[in-house]
Amino acid sequence: MMTGRDACEVSIDSENEMISVRKVIRNVATEMGFGVTDVTRIVTAASELTRNIFLYASSGTMIWRTCEVNGNTGIELIFEDHGPGIADIEEAMQAGFTTGGGLGLGLPGTKRLMDDMEIKSQKGEGTVITIRKYLRRC
Ligand SMILES: Nc1ncnc2c1ncn2[C@@H]1O[C@H](COP(=O)(O)OP(=O)(O)OP(=O)(O)O)[C@@H](O)[C@H]1O
Ligand SMILES: [Mg+2]
Repeated sequence: MMTGRDACEVSIDSENEMISVRKVIRNVATEMGFGVTDVTRIVTAASELTRNIFLYASSGTMIWRTCEVNGNTGIELIFEDHGPGIADIEEAMQAGFTTGGGLGLGLPGTKRLMDDMEIKSQKGEGTVITIRKYLRRC
């Protein structure tokens, strides 16, 4: 695990890492000032993307960092793997689409829980999914 002041990389290569990912994200998001509901949303989204890495790519990494977009502070999580890639991203984002016998709700659910979601994938090369959530100021 590589740690910095406001960035960290967690390798995802066994089911045990799901616990590390959840713990790291919960701590970071809480420390950044997210409320319990948002922390749960972020942890849930991270769990779905971590689970997809286990299922479809076997291994990968998650990097979290703080980000600043248009004056809004947020948390950015990047999930990267070198698995089979996603042939059709639009199709994969549709609720109910699955190649793994699941519910096909992980990716659309993640998009709903977060403020931003970007998927880059090349068949045969792997997948990079970036998600962000911003702190709201009252
Ligand atoms: N990291 C990945 N690498 C390759 N394919 C992926 C990856 N993540 C998702 N996919 C593809 O996108 C599909 C949809 O993913 P999604 O998480 O929405 O549903 P699921 O994993 O099939 O089921 P659920 O998450 O509801 O249990 C997957 O079935 C798989 O084909
Ligand atoms: Mg899934």
